[in-house]
Amino acid sequence: MPVGESDMEVIAVASQKGGVGKTSTTVNLAGGLALAGASVLVVDLEPQAQAGTSLGFNLTQQMLQRSLGWALQHRLQGIEVNLHEFLENRSEILEDFGDAGQLHLLASEEATMTTAQDLLSQKGYTAIPILRQMLQQVADDFDYVVVDTPPSVSALNALGVAAADYVVTLCNPEYATVRGAAILMAAVKHVPERTQGLCNPKFLGAILNRSNPPSSWTEQEVAVRNLMRDMGVLPFKRDIRRDNRISDSFAYGRPAVVRYPNHSPGQQYSALMAEVIDRISTPEEKWEIADSTDQDQVDTSA
Ligand SMILES: Nc1ncnc2c1ncn2[C@@H]1O[C@H](COP(=O)(O)OP(=O)(O)O)[C@@H](O)[C@H]1O
Ligand SMILES: [Mg+2]
Repeated sequence: MPVGESDMEVIAVASQKGGVGKTSTTVNLAGGLALAGASVLVVDLEPQAQAGTSLGFNLTQQMLQRSLGWALQHRLQGIEVNLHEFLENRSEILEDFGDAGQLHLLASEEATMTTAQDLLSQKGYTAIPILRQMLQQVADDFDYVVVDTPPSVSALNALGVAAADYVVTLCNPEYATVRGAAILMAAVKHVPERTQGLCNPKFLGAILNRSNPPSSWTEQEVAVRNLMRDMGVLPFKRDIRRDNRISDSFAYGRPAVVRYPNHSPGQQYSALMAEVIDRISTPEEKWEIADSTDQDQVDTSA
């Protein structure tokens, strides 16, 4: 029997490499969903805890027993944990928005998450479904879970991908990132056999992050767009452009959708969020796949 048949949708943001924009995408998709009224949980599987930082929250050394790494360690040692006790409510960052839903975080912390990763590596394939199983405890509390993952060299990446109903990946305007997306997509397809059918994530598509406005596309940028389509990584029509306000939001402890809701970074992420939700609710043969002729981008003049 597959684990998790509730209405809660779990979306993992994953890639082969670091630095492509996973954490930015995670917190902005989650923030966008919460601003649209949903009850959303961000799961931070990355030992560097940057999703937490982006939501204005980091665990101190006195709070290690509240970390996701602590929960995973116990669960990997066969000790039951109550995931509700680990939820950090971050809804205060939405307080300027009247219709917002809820935003919670399962927070990472480096030492505890690294120990969990070591335990996971020792256990091997059999432990891969545990995060999906643990999330069932909160299935009545959330509409969406968005999982930020470390690069796929880490065993924690496999845990996050297996926990998902849907997986999105990222490309940048560089050829190597498209190959990375294809490798990630292939890994997603192998999850059911690696988990004896307990986990069955669906690959939802690749987001082009750090793109340029169409007027300044380079040859490589056009080629990357076509390669994304040709390699079958199902590119979303909505890109996220290179914009310093995205990194600036990270330093400020707010997703761009919250800090710049009326400017292009916030609007692009909102539009991407809508496209992701649209794919989830539409049969795959009807998905609109982007290519290099798509220029219907959000105006970046704001
Ligand atoms: N579209 C963008 N424009 C400008 N900076 C970006 C963009 N996307 C990500 N960044 C910045 O690039 C760095 C890496 O992004 P991040 O989301 O942390 O990637 P990952 O989680 O894949 O390592 C961060 O400093 C982030 O703020
Ligand atoms: Mg990251």
